[in-house]
Amino acid sequence: MKKIKTIVFGLGNIGLLQDINKKHEIYSHSKSVSISKKFDLVGAIDISKKNRQVFLKKYNKPVFKNIRDFKDKNISFDLAIISLPTKLHLKFFIKLSKLNFKYCLFEKPAGNNRSEFLKIKKIALNKKIKLFVNYIRLYQKKYNIINRYLLDKNFATFYYNRGLMNNCSHLISFCLFNFGNVKKLKITRKNKSFNGDIQPSFLLEFKKIKANFVNVSKSNMSFNELNIINKRNIIYSRDNFNSVFQKKNSYKKKSNKKILFLRDKKLQLTVLNEIYKFITNESKNSKKTFIRLTKNFIDVHRVLNLIKIKNKNF
Ligand SMILES: NC(=O)c1ccc[n+]([C@@H]2O[C@H](COP(=O)([O-])OP(=O)(O)OC[C@H]3O[C@@H](n4cnc5c(N)ncnc54)[C@H](O)[C@@H]3O)[C@@H](O)[C@H]2O)c1
Repeated sequence: MKKIKTIVFGLGNIGLLQDINKKHEIYSHSKSVSISKKFDLVGAIDISKKNRQVFLKKYNKPVFKNIRDFKDKNISFDLAIISLPTKLHLKFFIKLSKLNFKYCLFEKPAGNNRSEFLKIKKIALNKKIKLFVNYIRLYQKKYNIINRYLLDKNFATFYYNRGLMNNCSHLISFCLFNFGNVKKLKITRKNKSFNGDIQPSFLLEFKKIKANFVNVSKSNMSFNELNIINKRNIIYSRDNFNSVFQKKNSYKKKSNKKILFLRDKKLQLTVLNEIYKFITNESKNSKKTFIRLTKNFIDVHRVLNLIKIKNKNF
């Protein structure tokens, strides 16, 4: 199978910078594509001269200021990775869709809202472009293990900061995927917004679990924390929901923690590997498809919209 020619649009944190000085971690798209044996980094685009220079120095691949300059060079590609600011996703995809390519990995949440995502989806359908959205935890099957510990009367608390769209959308995507549809929603506290992104505290009742989302606005670092408690177990994570542990829920006996899984240091490469499996049809026999979950991507936007409306009227 020939390599999937890939171009990265947007060389900010997630596109390039997050792992630039890290030796073993693969958190950015530029690094994951350049390291993968299945993908071929054919270039990048960014409006910032500084970021273009960093990219050129590190990866020595063609890099352009805008789509026009890129188009002039007639570079063919199969996969477009869009890691531009969310507000530009739709506008950029409209321009990009005039070019000929097959797959597109959007940074989450792919468009500002559900209506923008539906426009993106419509264009993709017309142009036969397969869409993926980078809710990274959806691409990691190991998160499935959490479901094994779910019983009746599960109650989860998620702590988040740095915005509903920006950070909490990851948690909502994860919950919708694992715990079913939302049955009830209640805002419990209207907090100060973060960079124009609201960040209320709220209750969401899913089919399998009741979840309390609490905004903790103090920390500068991005984090998502998790506690799932039921009669028998406590399942928890403290490191941005990357490692997950379990212990017995007992006041009487001290329970040792058990590691369910640890942080994947190559998580962006894991995402690419799952996409590759999908593209090459390797996953057709697996019972659950972990990627191209268009329904999940739309549902996340639907829940985000609902929270925005309820928060406004709170
Ligand atoms: N999946 C994740 O865990 C994760 C983590 C962080 C960010 N994100 C998402 O990734 C996207 C980007 O976030 P970020 O934190 O990397 O942002 P960022 O601001 O660090 O990077 C955006 C980049 O886009 C470039 N840019 C802006 N306007 C442009 C234009 N018109 N043409 C070309 N380039 C342009 C900027 O110069 C910058 O380098 C957002 O959608 C965000 O929600 C996802």
